[in-house]
Amino acid sequence: MQNFEYYNPVRMVFGRQTIPKVSDLIPRERKVLMTYGGGSIKQNGVYDQIQQAMAGRGLLEFGGIEPNPAYETLMKAVEVCRKEKVDFLLSVGGGSVLDGTKFIAMAAHYSGGDPWEILTKNAAPERAVPLGCVLTLPATGSEMNCFAVISRQATQEKLAFANPMVYPQFSILDPETTFTLSERQVRNGIADAFAHVMEQYMTYPVNAPLQDRQAEAILLTLIEEGPKALKNPRDYDCRANLMWAATHALNGMIACGVPQDWATHMIGHEITALYGLDHAQTLVVVMPAVWKHQKQAKAAKLVQYAERIWGIKDGGEKAATAIRRTEEFFRSLGMKTRLSEYGIGAERFEEIAERLERRGAKLGEQGTIVGKAVVEILKLCL
Ligand code: NZQ
Ligand code: ZN
Repeated sequence: MQNFEYYNPVRMVFGRQTIPKVSDLIPRERKVLMTYGGGSIKQNGVYDQIQQAMAGRGLLEFGGIEPNPAYETLMKAVEVCRKEKVDFLLSVGGGSVLDGTKFIAMAAHYSGGDPWEILTKNAAPERAVPLGCVLTLPATGSEMNCFAVISRQATQEKLAFANPMVYPQFSILDPETTFTLSERQVRNGIADAFAHVMEQYMTYPVNAPLQDRQAEAILLTLIEEGPKALKNPRDYDCRANLMWAATHALNGMIACGVPQDWATHMIGHEITALYGLDHAQTLVVVMPAVWKHQKQAKAAKLVQYAERIWGIKDGGEKAATAIRRTEEFFRSLGMKTRLSEYGIGAERFEEIAERLERRGAKLGEQGTIVGKAVVEILKLCL
């Protein structure tokens, strides 16, 4: 196992009827700005629950944060924060609202120049506005991590940052809030969590049996519970299991002491930035292609995955069979696994590789996926 440090300060509040607790979790003297997305919380009663819990506390609000939250929109919230001297942010919605809120928290105190530098230069203010979260979509793990992914529409960029200052102080997860998700969002959530596990698992063995089995437990849970949630959207237990699984997929625990890949995500972000595909839609297409391309380097883990997750016991081609079974699983959820199914061809593949190279990105657990290799992987996605 490799050396590691693990730190996680997020207070997790999980279960039915937990939203009213928000009022006790935010100190009374704080001036709170609630952030939210395009309005799903107004349709499913979450907005009303928050209003009730926070009644009499002068709650400010900022709505309209879009999926793949845009810098352009978020900067308007930054203005509100500065003008109103907001000293607590409450994110209510999915990963996009939460990631956007993490950016607002940093940008509001950033005086160095354009807050976009938080994404491009790893810049950071001395402190960030504290934040909390009510999560309504299991997928990103953002509720228990310090990462955020922000898009800039003007330049078609989608970049990530990480900073311990943006760990939520608390995250409230009431699985009942997920009953209203569309099938598309449920599938996307399963696929995103699955891919998060894989970025930290499908590398090479370092004799970390506990982390491997933790990762495998999350995968098996997603494979068992995912289809059930699509079939019975109001099955509470199933929603709860999915929600907790998605949190564990990216809260840092399974990353302890193991190498990490993240090539799928990095290439996927470029596809979202250029073509607008949903985050998870890109992952389902790119991940099998990365494995095919890196079959030698990932051979041992592919076999372990084949045996332990898909029960493939014999045959010389365990790795290839496991990749096929993974694609079949995503297709069984109703997802596309090829770029061509989205009408995307090879026209901009070189450009994607160049964009990544210009930022100095060396992808994969060995840092060997650059330039031509990115183009080759993208060709395997067609
Ligand atoms: O905007 P509203 O109206 O709220 O609707 C949203 C949105 O349209 C809707 N939704 C959310 N909860 C709902 C609901 N609809 C009905 N009922 C509910 N309970 O779902 C749509 C998608 O929401 P979004 O927040 O965009 O989805 P998700 O949580 O999958 O977040 C995706 C974003 O997270 C980033 C992605 O890149 C993408 O920008 N990621 C963040 C990570 C992190 N912070 O650690 C890691 C991930 O790899 C990922 O990159
Ligand atoms: Zn993801």
